[in-house]
Amino acid sequence: MNNFEFKNPTKIIFGKDSIAKLENEIPKDAKVLMLYGGGSIKKNGIYDQVKKALANFTVIEFGGIPANPEYSVLTEALEVIKTENITYLLAVGGGSVIDGTKFLSAAALYEGQSSWDILANKIRTDVGLPFGTVLTLPATGSEMNSGAVITRKETQEKLGMGGPGLFPQFSILDPQVITSIPERQLANGLTDAFTHVLEQYMTYPDGALLQDRFAESIMQTLIEVAPRIIKDPTDYKAASNFMWSCTMALNGLIQKGVPTDWAIHAIGHELTALFGIDHARTLAVITPSHYKYNFEAKKEKLAQYAERVWNITEGSTDDKAYAAIEKTVAFFHELGIDTKLSDYTKDYEGTAETIAQRFTDRGWLGLGEHKDVSPDKVAEIVKMAY
Ligand code: NZQ
Ligand code: ZN
Repeated sequence: MNNFEFKNPTKIIFGKDSIAKLENEIPKDAKVLMLYGGGSIKKNGIYDQVKKALANFTVIEFGGIPANPEYSVLTEALEVIKTENITYLLAVGGGSVIDGTKFLSAAALYEGQSSWDILANKIRTDVGLPFGTVLTLPATGSEMNSGAVITRKETQEKLGMGGPGLFPQFSILDPQVITSIPERQLANGLTDAFTHVLEQYMTYPDGALLQDRFAESIMQTLIEVAPRIIKDPTDYKAASNFMWSCTMALNGLIQKGVPTDWAIHAIGHELTALFGIDHARTLAVITPSHYKYNFEAKKEKLAQYAERVWNITEGSTDDKAYAAIEKTVAFFHELGIDTKLSDYTKDYEGTAETIAQRFTDRGWLGLGEHKDVSPDKVAEIVKMAY
């Protein structure tokens, strides 16, 4: 096991009707900017619950943060923070609203020329404006981690940022929010969380027994609850397991002390930036070809995953490893998620070269747990995913 340090300061408030507990978490004298997305919270009652809990606070609202949080919209919110002297941010939404809020938390205290530099120059945020979240969509784990991904349409870029200053102070997780989530987003959430675990697990055997079993148990739980959630989002038992699994998949715990990959996300973000494909669906497109292309490096772990997660016990290591890739693809398909780029766009020719060139330009010359997935190899993986 590798040496590690682990600190996650986010307070989780989990359970039925927990949104009302908001008022205990925000300083009484705070001037709050409440941030949300396209308006789903106004239809499903979450907006009303939040407003009720904040009845005794000074609150200004900023709605309209789109899925794949857009830099130009966030700069408008940044203006509000500055002109209104906001002291506390509250994200009410899914990963996009939370990530947008993290960007604002960093940008509000950033003293450089342009807030885009935080993304372009990978500037780590050690101190941000304090913020909390009310999670409305289990998927990304953003509610309990310190990372964010921001999109800029103008340049077709989607870049990550983060730092120890960007953990939410608290996150409220009421699994009842799931009842209003459309099937497409439920499938996305399941796929995203599942792939988060894969990125931190599907490398090579490293003797980290507990981390492996954490990862495997999250994947098993997601597989078990997936059909129940899709069939009936009001199934509270399934919803609560789904929600907690998504948080645990990316709150930093399972990646401590082990090698991690993250090439699927790096490539997937480009597909969202270029074609606007939902984040989770880009992962489902890249995962099978990434594992097939890097089969030799990953087959031991793929076979372990086959045995322990999919109960595939027959055959050689290679047989089991291949079967596990097929099982993963079938799982995505059962969720209604297509796994080829051509399922999403007709304009896929040249995508491999474009992404490889972008990675070269950014100096991303070796992705993956061995840092050997060069831009040329990225191009091959993307071509296999056409
Ligand atoms: O805009 P609103 O009205 O809120 O509607 C949203 C949006 O249309 C809707 N929705 C959310 N909660 C709902 C609901 N509809 C009905 N009922 C509810 N309770 O769902 C749509 C998608 O929301 P979004 O926040 O975009 O989804 P998700 O949570 O999947 O977030 C995706 C974003 O997070 C980034 C992705 O790249 C993408 O930009 N990620 C963030 C990560 C992180 N910070 O750790 C890691 C991930 O790998 C990922 O990259
Ligand atoms: Zn993801």
